[in-house]
Amino acid sequence: MSVVPNTRKRVTTRRLIEMKSAGKPIACLTAYDAISAAILDASGVEVLLVGDSVGNVIQGHDTTIPVTLEHMIYHTQAVVRAVSRALVVTDMPFMSYQVSPQEAFRNAGRLMKEAGSGAVKLEGGQRVVDSVRLMTENGIPVMGHLGLTPQSIHQFGSYKERGSTPEEAEIMKRDALALQEAGAFAIVLEKIPATLAAEITSLLSIPTIGIGAGPACDGQILVWTDMMGMSTEFNPRFVRRYADLHTVMIEAASQYVRDVKERSFPSDEESY
Ligand code: KIV
Repeated sequence: MSVVPNTRKRVTTRRLIEMKSAGKPIACLTAYDAISAAILDASGVEVLLVGDSVGNVIQGHDTTIPVTLEHMIYHTQAVVRAVSRALVVTDMPFMSYQVSPQEAFRNAGRLMKEAGSGAVKLEGGQRVVDSVRLMTENGIPVMGHLGLTPQSIHQFGSYKERGSTPEEAEIMKRDALALQEAGAFAIVLEKIPATLAAEITSLLSIPTIGIGAGPACDGQILVWTDMMGMSTEFNPRFVRRYADLHTVMIEAASQYVRDVKERSFPSDEESY
């Protein structure tokens, strides 16, 4: 039996809000290129996020800080070409939305117009609300991102859990409500206590998408290379590994190397 839903109707932001109301969980993954996006889209995920985690996963940086708007446009274009069902959301990279709401709006517009994204995501609460409002009032759907916000790594100094003091939790609840009021259609909650994520989820009429935020969120997101077990170095407890592609790929590549060295590849059937 196939686990792939037989409807290929495009997922919309409105559909995600309806899913929350109906109590239907929302499955999201990241994607950075056409071939993996096509495979992941066929799995039935509702959202493919072209995350600025591209900086870590694809570009090999330690942080997301070096990622540029041009990088995000390039990767989004590749993903959009391959996807027929999932909503493609693109991260706004560091310094593409912090200077002013006008600049944020213009850059978000490039992600929609030049890259073909269906929505943008940006990190932060009250401080980005004016930008979020300007975008949503002008036809650009926005996903918020609270909790651990990797673009602020140099301010926080670590990737540890956020929202564990009563003060931080209060600010996060206010931030979530402010983003919703500014028109955001969903909010990612990253690495916060499960109880706080549950509280925020019940406060909001828009969906929360958790990563390391417990089971009460309306949806979940993982970095696709983490959940497929491609890397052996990043092992936070919120990542469940559904495959061991690291081993599969090393074994396959090693077999290829052996075959070439032994001249058993290519065979007559593989030649012209
Ligand atoms: O960039 C990213 O991959 C993200 C997810 C972790 C939510 O923002």
